[in-house]
Amino acid sequence: MPFADLARVDAHDKVRGAVAFAADDARPNLAYGAFAVATIGKGRLASLDVAAAEAADGVRLVLTHANIGAVASAGFIMGGGYGFQSHQPLISPEIAYRGEPIALVVADSLEAATHAAALVRATYETAPFAVELDAPGVEVVDQAETPLAHFIPPVAAGDADAAYARAPVQIDARFASAPQHQNPIELIACVAEWQAGRLVIHEGTQNAEAVRHGLAAALGLDAGLIDVVSPFVGGGFGQKNSLQGHTVLAAEAARRLARPVKIVVPRAQLYHLASFRPANRHHVRLGADRSGRMLAAIHEAQAQTSRHDLFPGEYATTSARLYGIADFRGKDELLRTDAQTPGYMRAPFEHIACFAFESCVDELAYALGIDPVALRLANDTTVDAVTGRPLSSRHVGQCLERGAAMFGWERRSMAPGSMRAEDGGLIGWGVAIGTYAGLRAPAIAKLKLTDDGRVEIRVGVHEMGQGVRTALAAVLARKLGIAPEHIVAIIGDTRAAPQHLTAGSWGTATAIPVVEAAADALLARLAELAPGGVSNREPAQILRAAGLPELAVEVQGKAPGQPDAIYDRLKAGLPSIGGPVYPEFVTYSYIAHFVEVRVEATTRRVRVPRVVSVADCGRVVSPRTAASQVRGGVVWGIGAALREASEVDPRYGGFLNADLAEYALPVNADIGAIEVAFVDEPDTRFNSAGVKGLGEVSMAGVAAAIANAIHHATGKRLRELPIRIEDVL
Ligand code: MOS
Repeated sequence: MPFADLARVDAHDKVRGAVAFAADDARPNLAYGAFAVATIGKGRLASLDVAAAEAADGVRLVLTHANIGAVASAGFIMGGGYGFQSHQPLISPEIAYRGEPIALVVADSLEAATHAAALVRATYETAPFAVELDAPGVEVVDQAETPLAHFIPPVAAGDADAAYARAPVQIDARFASAPQHQNPIELIACVAEWQAGRLVIHEGTQNAEAVRHGLAAALGLDAGLIDVVSPFVGGGFGQKNSLQGHTVLAAEAARRLARPVKIVVPRAQLYHLASFRPANRHHVRLGADRSGRMLAAIHEAQAQTSRHDLFPGEYATTSARLYGIADFRGKDELLRTDAQTPGYMRAPFEHIACFAFESCVDELAYALGIDPVALRLANDTTVDAVTGRPLSSRHVGQCLERGAAMFGWERRSMAPGSMRAEDGGLIGWGVAIGTYAGLRAPAIAKLKLTDDGRVEIRVGVHEMGQGVRTALAAVLARKLGIAPEHIVAIIGDTRAAPQHLTAGSWGTATAIPVVEAAADALLARLAELAPGGVSNREPAQILRAAGLPELAVEVQGKAPGQPDAIYDRLKAGLPSIGGPVYPEFVTYSYIAHFVEVRVEATTRRVRVPRVVSVADCGRVVSPRTAASQVRGGVVWGIGAALREASEVDPRYGGFLNADLAEYALPVNADIGAIEVAFVDEPDTRFNSAGVKGLGEVSMAGVAAAIANAIHHATGKRLRELPIRIEDVL
């Protein structure tokens, strides 16, 4: 039975401003931090003069490398640590990249701190640096020859080179994407406060447990003395997936001042203080026979990383999963540049891999004169070619067929430039599919019913706007027969339950099965209390009749195949999705996007008036927030395809964007109709709740569908993102 269309349980509080975001925190006695940042591309501080800043009105503390003391790096999250990068600003005079903090000024007001930060004077010894992929000094690292290969092995199946060489039809194309930055509505923000020997951090994060353990490592503290509280995040799409350098410094400043310290990273500084989608480029070869059967593919990717960390690339991992291609070879290379470490940004590899691969599939369709939907359907599969294991579910064919019907695809004429608008503009219709791995983290759920009829759920998951509170309320309301408004979720809080990183579209597949299991355990206890049966009585009535004030259960859950020791990693704030999971099968989510573009006749301005997206994410537990996830992914796909680029400065280093005027995003007027549908087939092999994942697959394939639609409108193949008006001329 499909789930009811429950409204967002936090909607009213959000629109009334009643929700506690870290950036809004205004507790008494707050001190405010502001950063002075490095103005060279790389090198080392020769001198740092903070006297004027220290003497400025309202300034309480200036932290620099000279007085920071024993603060250490918490390490890189993909290298066994807790930070988005291993480089912790202010702990040495070395400057790794332009824009990194060199001083933290803490004052009684934001204005005083910001003013005083501008009074910090530095001189530098400069060193050569590289910020572009082809600049001298960029070091190329084959990922397969690094420790990363242990947990992200290169994709290989069959003999792709030989099979490609034999293929009667060959597509060979190169793609590239600019670096891009997340610009969350809630800026990166934290409040650090010491309360009776405990450090309490209020921060919008996707990973409260890593913030906690990372702070312990950085500050030499017992993690048992640290609480991290993140009930709501104002946008978390990978950027907030680990400890960030500002939090360490806020905690240290709060300790020294014995008062709470707040840091809100200004948008202008976000481009250098937070991770970003790295610059990347691809060489894709796709071989097929003349009937359209895909025989072989080779996907070679290069992506930017920092000098100090290896941020892994997983591009070919995704493209290998789009179709049943028996012979496939992937290669990921990393290019070391002088920037902060790049990181995960919604559909980090999947968006780009699908852009490249699905553009090639469209080229193949045109090379063969086969309809692009029919070509995709003809290459569907039930087996994962890379591992040889069955897919636990795959309904991408249904996504394509249903999307084509909703879109009216049968009215499309194949030839480029053959469809015109009444105003003389060109119409292009494009299609592409996307995929994203099904993943599940370990979780512990604590469920409590009280005799007043309220239910409290404590579980490891963060609410970043995706709607997980609504999903939790939906499943508990249905299981327990309790109204959603009587269900309280305490999440994103290290005091409530161990908090695994909420990312990788695994939040629902992680939390919902264990919460449903907790509800079942609670119902079983109630049944013991009410031998006559629980079905016709409210849970709280049973409690009252039994004379119990409350009833609590605790349940834990993990992916099959993972050892019990995974719960130790969970509690230690370490990523816990890897290892020997799901030995029997492989799980992916899928989506099909159908896009209409209009290319204006004279200016060649590209509009996207209409998108139809049909997703296979397993069971849909929260229809309203699920549909919003897809619309959000489509909007971001439009931004990534047509707008967003972080511009590097080869002369001085760093990124040039500093605000939302210089970092172009789609605005409301750029977004037309986005029609969303779901296959809504539970995947109960993947987990008992039948949910796969949705957030990131929603964006995968959008850029390809747009590029394919532009080709259909204009005959031009555009292979670099973002696609700008001058490319279409
Ligand atoms: Mo997502 S890019 O895994 O937060």
